[in-house]
Amino acid sequence: DIIPGVDIALFGALGDLAKRKLYPALYHLDRDGLLDKSTRLIGLARQDISLDSFKETVEAALKERVKPEHLEKDAVARFIARIGYAALDFGTLEGYSAIVDWRVDAKGKSSPRPLLIYLSVPSRIYGDISSNLQASGCLDEQSRVVVEKPIGSDLESSGAVNDAIGAVFAESQIYRIDHYLGKETVQNLIALRFANPMFGNQWNQNQISHVEITVAEKVGIEGRWGYFDQAGQLRDMVQNHLLQLLCLIAMDPPSSLDADAIRDEKVKVLKALRPITGERLNTDLVRGQYITGAVDGQRVPGYLEEEGANTESSTETFVAFKTEVSNWRWAGVPFYLRTGKRMPEKMSQIVIHFRQQPHYIFDPDQRSLASNKLIIRLQPHEGISLQVLTKDPGLDKGMRLRPGPLDLDFNNAFPKRRIPEAYERLLLEVIKGQQYLFVRRDEIEHAWRWVDTLIDGWESRAAAPSRYPAGSWGPVSSIAMITRDGRSWYEEY
Ligand code: BG6
Repeated sequence: DIIPGVDIALFGALGDLAKRKLYPALYHLDRDGLLDKSTRLIGLARQDISLDSFKETVEAALKERVKPEHLEKDAVARFIARIGYAALDFGTLEGYSAIVDWRVDAKGKSSPRPLLIYLSVPSRIYGDISSNLQASGCLDEQSRVVVEKPIGSDLESSGAVNDAIGAVFAESQIYRIDHYLGKETVQNLIALRFANPMFGNQWNQNQISHVEITVAEKVGIEGRWGYFDQAGQLRDMVQNHLLQLLCLIAMDPPSSLDADAIRDEKVKVLKALRPITGERLNTDLVRGQYITGAVDGQRVPGYLEEEGANTESSTETFVAFKTEVSNWRWAGVPFYLRTGKRMPEKMSQIVIHFRQQPHYIFDPDQRSLASNKLIIRLQPHEGISLQVLTKDPGLDKGMRLRPGPLDLDFNNAFPKRRIPEAYERLLLEVIKGQQYLFVRRDEIEHAWRWVDTLIDGWESRAAAPSRYPAGSWGPVSSIAMITRDGRSWYEEY
């Protein structure tokens, strides 16, 4: 692929996301020869600092976040040389001329490269920034805008944000990030399902009994009380990352890898997702909040003791639920999802449980073993493993069965390849102008519609979240939810 040069205008250039993810990702692209030599970046933030001090900030971010073995002096210098800075009050039109000026060369010629605008700022100001960009004459049909989640906090507010961006940019120019879509194994889901007939043909209610998705985090709220307490785990993680994973597992094969072909199929899944209402709010939904406990042997405070906490808060830090995709492919197959902060491990995985063998001829005590599981690990140790049954070796074991993995650990299988961070892939796709890893407006809105119904239901019951100690796998009711169906969360850790 030819990778075109672009001019990147980064709003929120001194923010956390920029330092933790965006500069390291762009640096890696540069180091790997994936940035055209003409590509440049202008950092935009309110603070009136000099270009040198901005460059120092970026360099410090690289030193903190990039592994020492990947930090090469020449590559760092090349990357830093691409950088500019302008102090900008995002709400005031006048300052935007800095972007126009930055794009004009010494001979007065305007840059031929597309302008790529990255909005790493709260979504309530996306609209103002978009209209100021337009009014200042920065934009043309080549321009692209990248926006971060969360887009709004419900269907209505996300509609307002999307309207405001949409008044300036066409949908084909808008790149809504869900960084889970950039993870290596998430990409591999598409390869696994649609390149392997063995799985493609089995991927339905005739062969699959149920599906589990777990996204567990060790961290708490990391000093983000203000944001997190408004959002909660449902809005912060389920509305976007978990529902996107569910879509990729459940969608029908797209007719091609074209962005809209994939997104059309994901939307169908969201439309078919059974809402959790009525009695199901009691049986198929668990909300939790962590209390003091220990993670990695270290005592950590409970959610209500975090810095800046309002001790009355009933915001959830854990959610588990059971749902179903009501269509021909999935009728009767439960999807169990759970996600929480302050779990014992950082671990994201999808487990596909295949149905049991219909005619069984082995030791009756081992009958429950007689099914296969496909385990797709997103993090850590990205990989795919298929649990199969073999004979326990030896002369004295008779026909005892033994479950074991057919394992594909990406780090071991491709030891010389570095697995790129999600943001590297996503930024590269924006630069190339390819949208298939980004979320279309109707996907976001259908996801909100489902989440809004859930929130309306739980608010009408006003039940407090169940407590769980930090460092545990969530409230016991989450275990009860799945054991009630004669199943358990898959645990290999
Ligand atoms: C973000 C959430 O979108 O994803 C955070 O806002 C969460 O609360 C993070 O910690 C998890 O991402 P990852 O890539 O570390 O699993």
